[in-house]
Amino acid sequence: MAKNIETIAVLTSGGDAPGMNAAIRAVVRQALSRGKKVKGIKRGYAGLLQEEIIDLEARSVSDIIQRGGTILATARCKEFTTPEGQQQGAEICRKHGIDGVVVIGGDGSFKGAQKLASLGINTIGIPGTIDLDIACTEYTIGFDTAVNTAMDAIDKVRDTSTSHERCSIIEVMGRGAGFIALWCGIANGAEDILLPEKYDYDEQKLVNNIINNRKRGKKHHIIINAEGIGHSTSMAKRIEAATGVETRATILGHMQRGGSPTCKDRVYASTMGAFAADLLCDGKSNRVVGYRHGEFVDFDIDEALSMEKAISEYQFNICESLSK
Ligand code: ADP
Ligand code: F6P
Repeated sequence: MAKNIETIAVLTSGGDAPGMNAAIRAVVRQALSRGKKVKGIKRGYAGLLQEEIIDLEARSVSDIIQRGGTILATARCKEFTTPEGQQQGAEICRKHGIDGVVVIGGDGSFKGAQKLASLGINTIGIPGTIDLDIACTEYTIGFDTAVNTAMDAIDKVRDTSTSHERCSIIEVMGRGAGFIALWCGIANGAEDILLPEKYDYDEQKLVNNIINNRKRGKKHHIIINAEGIGHSTSMAKRIEAATGVETRATILGHMQRGGSPTCKDRVYASTMGAFAADLLCDGKSNRVVGYRHGEFVDFDIDEALSMEKAISEYQFNICESLSK
C-alpha cells in the first residue's frame, strides 16, 4: 500500500543551474495546493546531515522565479555517499516528519535519492544541470539559459576576433559532456569544436583548418573548446606559433551557470517541479522526471541511471560543412 504523504521536502544538489528556483517554487506551491506541508533542506545532502531544514510557505518562494542560482543553496557531500551517511540522512528525515524528498540535481544527486528511497524515504528526482548530460531526458534545467549566455558572449568575442583577423579559442563548460560546446558551435558558426566525447582530437588538423580557412578568405577562426579538453591558453600559444595567426583564448567559466533563467527554463522547470510534487503526493518513489518526445514523463531512477546519451554525430559533422 502506498505510504501516506503529509510532509515533503525539497533540496538542490551538485552544480547549480538557472531555473532551479522556478522548480523549487513549483514544488512548494503544488504540494501546498494538494494540502501537504513543505520543508526546504539547505545545501543539498550536506545540509540534510547538518539538519539545516526550514519550513516553506507560499510566500517563502515569492519573487524567485526570475532568479538564477538556488535559494536553498547547494553543495557536494562526500559523507552522503557512505551507507552511514545515507542511514543518518533517512533518520533525520523521519525525525523531522519528512515523508518524501524532491531532489533537484544531476546523476550523482539521483544516486543519493535512490539510496534514501531504499531506506524508506520516498524520493523524486528533477534533472538540474547546465550540462544536459542526463540520459533519460532531452531537457535539463539550466541548459537553455547557459547556452544562450555562452552564445551571447561568443558573439562578442567574434566581433573583436574578426576586426583583428584573429583566431579565438573559447572555452565553455562541460567537464564530461560536450552538449554546450556542440550547441554553441552550431549557434555561433564555429570553425572547430572540441568535445570531451571525441578523444581523437588532433591539433595538426586544427592548424591545417586555420591555414585553409585563411586561404578561403575567412577573417576569423572560432574554436569552441569544452572544459573537458581544457588547456585553452597553452593551445592558443601553440596554434599561433604553428599558423602565424594571432590567437587568443577566452575561458567563459562560471558566468555560464548564473543569470536569470530563459522563458524555456522557467516554464519547463516549473512544470517539472509541479510534476515531481504530484508524483510524491500520489505516493510514488524512486522516480525521476524527464522530458521526452514532447512530453513530461517519469522513470524509475534505476532505469534512468542505466540509460546512455551520446552526442549527435550528424550535428557534430555538419559543423564542419556549415562553417566553410
Ligand atoms: P550531480 O548531481 O550534478 O551529478 P555530483 O555528482 O557532484 O553532482 O553529486 C552531488 C551529490 O550527490 C554528491 O556530493 C553526493 O552527496 C551525492 N551523491 C553522488 N553520488 C552518490 C552515490 N553514489 N550515493 C549517494 N549519494 C551520492
Ligand atoms: O554544472 C556543471 C558543471 O559546470 C560542469 O560543466 C563542470 O565540470 C562542473 O560543473 C564544475 O563545477 P564546479 O566548478 O562547481 O566544481
